[in-house]
Amino acid sequence: MQDQQPASTGEPAVSTTSRPVPSTLHISSHPAVLHKLAVLRDEATEPKKFREVVRELSWLLGYEALADARVRPLIVQTPLESMTGHELADRIGLIPILRAGLGMVDAMLELMPTAQVWHLGLFRDERTLRPVEYYNRLPDSATVDLCLILDPMLATGGSATAAIEVLKRWGAVRIKLVNLIAAPEGVEAVTAAHPDVEIHCAALDRQLNEVGYILPGLGDAGDRQFGTGRSDQGEVPPD
Ligand code: PRP
Ligand code: URA
Repeated sequence: MQDQQPASTGEPAVSTTSRPVPSTLHISSHPAVLHKLAVLRDEATEPKKFREVVRELSWLLGYEALADARVRPLIVQTPLESMTGHELADRIGLIPILRAGLGMVDAMLELMPTAQVWHLGLFRDERTLRPVEYYNRLPDSATVDLCLILDPMLATGGSATAAIEVLKRWGAVRIKLVNLIAAPEGVEAVTAAHPDVEIHCAALDRQLNEVGYILPGLGDAGDRQFGTGRSDQGEVPPD
C-alpha cells in the first residue's frame, strides 16, 4: 500500500455521517492506529499480515480503553530506596466474540497478563443479520470488575448488544466495547440499548451496505484473518 495523501495531523477516522457522535464513543487519533488501519483495509493485505495488524491495533486500542482501569498503591523496594508504586486493582475480563475477536486476545493479554479470558460464540444469521449464540461457558456469576468485549467489527450492533446483555445478566457492571471499525448504525444501536457502555474504535465508517457490511470497511474480519474468504462476501444472498 502506498501513501498517496499529503501528511495529516492525525485526525480521527470519522465518517462524514451527519449523526451525532455520542460521548461514549472514543475514536483513536493515534498516527500508528491510522497507518495500521489503512493496511488492514487494503484488499491486498493477506491473512498473515492481516492477523499481525489486528494484533497491533488491538494493543493500541486496548491501551487507550484501559486508561481508566483502577490501581492501588504498592510499596516497592528499588535498589536505592523504598517508594510507593501501583498495582492493578481491577480484575480485567477479556471477552472475545468468536471468531473474529480471537485475533485481538493475545495483544490484550500482553497488555494485561492477569486478565481472564471468557469466550462468547456469536455469529450473524446472513439473512436476518440477527446474532445467534452458539458458545458460552461463563461461570454463574461475574468474576471480574471490568469487561472488555473484543470484536473487530461493530456493524448493525446486534452481536455487541447481545454480548453486553449476556455480560450484564452475568453480573458485569463495567463493560467496554473494543472494535477496530464501527458503523454509525452499530454505535447508535449499542448506545440506545446500553448508554453506559463505552466504545473504543480505530474508525467510525460511513454506513452499512444492503447486506450489513461496513462501508468502506475491510470486508469480513473473520474470513480475512483465517483465510476463509468466500467469493459471495458482501453480496445479497439469493432467496
Ligand atoms: C462479524 C463480526 C461481529 C459481527 C458484527 O462476525 O466479527 O461479531 O459480524 O456484526 P453485527 O454488528 O451486525 O452483529 P460474524 O457473524 O461474521 O462471525 P465470525 O466472526 O464467525 O466470522
Ligand atoms: N462483519 C464483518 O466481518 N464485516 C463487516 O463489514 C460487517 C460485519
